[in-house]
Formats: sequence, structure tokens, C-alpha cells
Amino acid sequence: MARPRHIGILTAGGDCPGMNAAVRAVVKTAEHRHELRVTGFLDGFAGLLTDRARPLGFDDVAGILVQGGTMLGASNRDDPFRVPVGGGNSEDRSDAVLATAARHGLDGLVVVGGDGSLTIARRLAARGLPIVGIPKTIDNDVSGTDITVGFDSALTVATEALDRLHTTAAAHHRVMVVEVMGRQAGWIALEAGIAAGGDVVLIPEIPFRYEAAAAGIAARAHRGRRFSIVVVAEGALGPDGGPVVRERIADSPEPIRLGGVGAVVSHALECLVPFEVRCVVLGHLQRGGGPTPFDRMLATRFGVAAVTALVEGDSGCMVALHGDRIERVPIDESVTRPRLVDPRGERVTVARSVGPIFGDEGAG
Ligand code: F6P
Repeated sequence: MARPRHIGILTAGGDCPGMNAAVRAVVKTAEHRHELRVTGFLDGFAGLLTDRARPLGFDDVAGILVQGGTMLGASNRDDPFRVPVGGGNSEDRSDAVLATAARHGLDGLVVVGGDGSLTIARRLAARGLPIVGIPKTIDNDVSGTDITVGFDSALTVATEALDRLHTTAAAHHRVMVVEVMGRQAGWIALEAGIAAGGDVVLIPEIPFRYEAAAAGIAARAHRGRRFSIVVVAEGALGPDGGPVVRERIADSPEPIRLGGVGAVVSHALECLVPFEVRCVVLGHLQRGGGPTPFDRMLATRFGVAAVTALVEGDSGCMVALHGDRIERVPIDESVTRPRLVDPRGERVTVARSVGPIFGDEGAG
């Protein structure tokens, strides 16, 4: 394969801290080490579809390392393989994407995305566009990598929020139910719950009973702890066995938007515990703000590795963290199933050893 001269980059899916750090690393590595031109496509795959782009050089990425969001814009709705055309129908417009790439003379594309965006990337790579993925999402649910860009920053926000809620819960002898994001994965809830010393953690991977959660709160009260912090992942399964759905977005690669389980859990616990129960939804606070040092490092390492992969002629792969090594895995492997919390894994064992409880106690 001829040496690449011009690559594109886009940031797709929900934004998260660290996306800008990845863009900066790609642009700097491309220009500085490989004399490649870089074009940024705006608003995820929508920019490729409609040819909205901007050249990116050193000056364009100056100062963005510490900034949250993404200078390129992001979208978690635009799937070029399923563009809505009215009447509930959709059309495959991937030809338009490939035409944009050809018009720009792209030799490769870096896609910074979660599993929905990486699935699109895989399909485009199969159509001949050389693509390397950088896994990002606060949900940490992309298989094939130990961690995704954005998770550590969201975890930091959630942990700080739990710390703050602790003091007010204790002062008023309340139960605070805190709903965190994560889609079908309980990583944020689990790790923030452990890191902040939460009392009950409800996650999608471990079915829970309200009675067991309430019993845990009662046991604490018995020991003189007249408040509790309950962390509930937005994907935790409600009483009917399904997640609480906030909205369905037909043209999105991830059509189901979760939300509302915190209120459901609060109402259920109100009837079971002798404390006032309040609900706090952390929502998009978890996605906002600048990246932690860990995310800046990870995104930078991933950005450098993604450009190296394209220069070496690799495509259809994703850069990944394994232990302390940055490696490449086929995108195919990373998007076939989400990476979920292992209910028998080490972190759950840690939680079961020191607290919090999962609301499954006494079951089975
Ligand atoms: O995937 C990241 C994420 O923040 C999820 O945790 C959450 O369910 C979803 O995106 C929210 O999407 P939106 O910003 O469209 O409401």
C-alpha cells in the first residue's frame, strides 16, 4: 500500500471528556511525525455524509487538551446506513460517505466513538475505507479494551457527587438515591459506589429486590447509621424486569435512551424504609467538563497509536488498552457484544467484601 498522505478524523456518539485530547494527538502525530494532512469532519458521521469538514493543523488544536466536549462536534443519531427518509423509512447512504472520503482524497479515517459508532466504522471499513477506531464512552462498555476514554472523568464526577451527597444525607438522616449513566453497563455505579463508600449499588448485571436493598438500609440504621447512599445505574432493571426507558430515537445507532430508574427506586424505597428518600439524577454532568489526567494520557496514547496503525496500513481495527500496553484489536471483536460488569468478577467481590450491597442478598 502507498504511504498515506491525508487522513480524516471524526468524533461520534455521545461526547465525553478526552475526545479533544484524542483529536489533538492525532493531528500532532500526523503532522509532526508523518507529514500527513488531517481533515476533521463535523458532528460525527453527519459531517462525512454531508461533507462538512475543516482542515486541522497544529494551531487548530492548541489548547484543546484540557477542554471537555469535542471541537469537531458529535452526534449520537446519524447512521449513514440508516438515514430517515420520512414515513418511518430509512435509506442506506453509505455511498455518499465514501464519495466524500474520495473527494477529499482520504487515505484513512480515525473514528473516535463508542460501540454504536464503531459498528458504523466497521461497516465502512468493510466497504474499503481504511479506518482505525479509538474507543471512547463514559459507559466503559466497549469490548476489547480494558477501559475507554471518558470513563475515568465520569467516574471522578460521580464519585465527587456521592461524596457531597454523603454529608447532606448524614445531616438530615435521609436516603439519597443517585442515578448515574452507563446504559446497559454498571461500571460507573459500581466503581463510584466503591470509591465513595456507597451503601447500596444497583446495576443491570445483578438483578435486585427492593426488600433486600431496604434490609441493607435498615441494618445500617440498626448500627446507628441513620442515612444511606443508594447508587443506581440507569440501566438497572426495574420491577418488570426491563430497564426504565426515557425515549426512543428511531434514527440513532443506539435508539433506546434510558433514564428515570432513580425515581422508580426512590418511590419503592419510600414505602420500605423509615427515612425520607430523595433522588438525584447526575445526568450529563457526568459527560461535561475537562478530562482527568488519566483520560488525557489515555486519549493521547490512543491518538498516537491510531495514526501509527493507519501509517502501517492497518484498517478495521481499534486501538485498545491491555494492562499498560496499547495494542490493536479487530473492530469486529469489539462491537459484537458490550463489555459488562462480571457479577462474579474481582470488583464485585471487592464490593461484597467492604460494602456496598447489591440488593440481591438473600436471593437464590
Ligand atoms: O453513551 C453515553 C451516554 O451518556 C449514556 O450513558 C447515556 O445513556 C446516553 O449517552 C445519553 O444520551 P443522550 O445524550 O442522547 O441523552
